[in-house]
Amino acid sequence: MTQSSTTNRRIVLASRPQGAPTAADFRLEEAPIPVPAEGQVLLRTLYLSLDPYMRQLMDEVPPAYAPRVELGSHMVGGTVSRIVASRHPGFQVGELVLGNAGWQDYALSDGSDLRALGDMKQPSYALGGLGMPAFTAYVGLLDIGQPKAGETVVVAAATGAVGAIVGQLAKLKGARVIGIAGGADKVTFAREQLGFDVALDRHDPQLAQKLAQAAPDGIDVYFENVGGAVFGAVVPLLNVGARVPVIGVIADYNRKGAAEGPDRLPKVMATILQKRIRMQGLVIFDHYETRHEDFIRDMTAWVAQGKVKLVEDLLEGLPQAPEGLIGLLHGSNFGKVVVRVSEA
Ligand SMILES: NC(=O)c1ccc[n+]([C@@H]2O[C@H](COP(=O)([O-])OP(=O)(O)OC[C@H]3O[C@@H](n4cnc5c(N)ncnc54)[C@H](OP(=O)(O)O)[C@@H]3O)[C@@H](O)[C@H]2O)c1
Repeated sequence: MTQSSTTNRRIVLASRPQGAPTAADFRLEEAPIPVPAEGQVLLRTLYLSLDPYMRQLMDEVPPAYAPRVELGSHMVGGTVSRIVASRHPGFQVGELVLGNAGWQDYALSDGSDLRALGDMKQPSYALGGLGMPAFTAYVGLLDIGQPKAGETVVVAAATGAVGAIVGQLAKLKGARVIGIAGGADKVTFAREQLGFDVALDRHDPQLAQKLAQAAPDGIDVYFENVGGAVFGAVVPLLNVGARVPVIGVIADYNRKGAAEGPDRLPKVMATILQKRIRMQGLVIFDHYETRHEDFIRDMTAWVAQGKVKLVEDLLEGLPQAPEGLIGLLHGSNFGKVVVRVSEA
């Protein structure tokens, strides 16, 4: 089923996942294309972003920062769209915009959530390397992590949408970067293509020992993308005064119930206290007003100058979205996952 000008394909939440989502938790439906009312535009989706937070919105109890997706409703998501009909004085037919159409071919908007992209050459970058994930890396690393030249920075999911940018920005700041990623190909890529000083495989049973060897002077900034076993390996190596921007804990997103193994909380709390660690959570939506302009200016320049490389994992066609999200949660992606919904 490809995109058409007569029906709206949409992927809805069919059931709430018990642990890891499966294809059966999603359903592809067809509906009439909606008609814009006065003050609205009709958006035709070109690119859909797939992001780990989507898994959390599938649960009965959603995270604190966003409402859950209701059963039978289309999955939410950031999109790059073309305006194909406009009854809004601020938007013209043909304009390219960043918005939140979700997992569907067409959507209405009153314009309040849209940002014009002009004639951006590679519009999918507005969802990744010049979009939300890279903005998260920028604010989390530069404002909370504050790496200094010569310090050691560790980041996991190191070839992913956020992690690949974190490591490259830390290098720009003169830090020594240790990336942790899943599998030999990602490890090689992190070292050879992204320029990280060291890269380690999170599946290696010797990860904790290898991380200790790779960080003989301890860890000054740990950019927390994943939680789980990687966090366990990092904690004993944190230096006095280390900074830990807490961005995501993807190792737990599919978990039902308590984590296995001994209770690590007392050790973690003692480390935070004794080493005077600064851990700070970040929800990127809070920072658009104050930091987004700076991000776009700096990141556009760094990419143009070849100082930051953008890595995109492009899937073809809306029906690929469920498998794309399922894979992302296990680590099958290589860079920022984007679905090309339409070429129009
Ligand atoms: N706070 C915010 O505002 C905000 C905004 C954007 C993203 N985030 C968070 O940032 C993190 C990264 O997001 P992203 O979009 O850049 O995704 P991503 O890194 O492109 O993809 C997710 C990656 O997580 C890794 N992973 C999966 N299960 C894991 C596990 N059990 N242990 C360790 N790593 C695991 C996999 O990488 P490997 O196979 O290479 O390990 C996978 O490729 C997520 O936790 C996400 O929720 C937060």
